[in-house]
Amino acid sequence: MSTSRQALFNAARTAMENAHAPYSFFRVGAAVRGASGRVYAGTNVENASYPEGWCAETSAIAAMVTAGEKRIEEVCVLSTGEPPATPCGGCRQRLAEFAGPDTPVHIGGPKGIVKTWRMDELLPAAFALQDQDEEEL
Ligand code: THU
Repeated sequence: MSTSRQALFNAARTAMENAHAPYSFFRVGAAVRGASGRVYAGTNVENASYPEGWCAETSAIAAMVTAGEKRIEEVCVLSTGEPPATPCGGCRQRLAEFAGPDTPVHIGGPKGIVKTWRMDELLPAAFALQDQDEEEL
């Protein structure tokens, strides 16, 4: 694994270990690499009021945007699931906001990455703002 991919993986694994998942017991860690090369990690944060919890990818994206970055170059999502989970539908849309169609999305578990998808494989025909037709609003 390249040094930068290893750093992305390590950040996602640490985030996964810090999950707040006392209801599903499903730990997820995500890390995104911004255009600057910096890595931003996030984990799933559940809540006693179940619908108020959110996903690891959402946490990582929030950390990146908070730091002032708007471009995702690479993604890693790790979970304790078998097979390892791919991002949920909502997180695919959130990732696509900042990633490109060819952005790699690595999926795996604590022992390593098991599969790499392209963003446009996970979310083909993605909705984007320019798809809106203002005349019909
Ligand atoms: N989860 C994520 O963090 N990312 C996903 O893409 C799928 C689901 C979390 C949400 C919840 O805390 C737990 O996994 C079970 O759904």
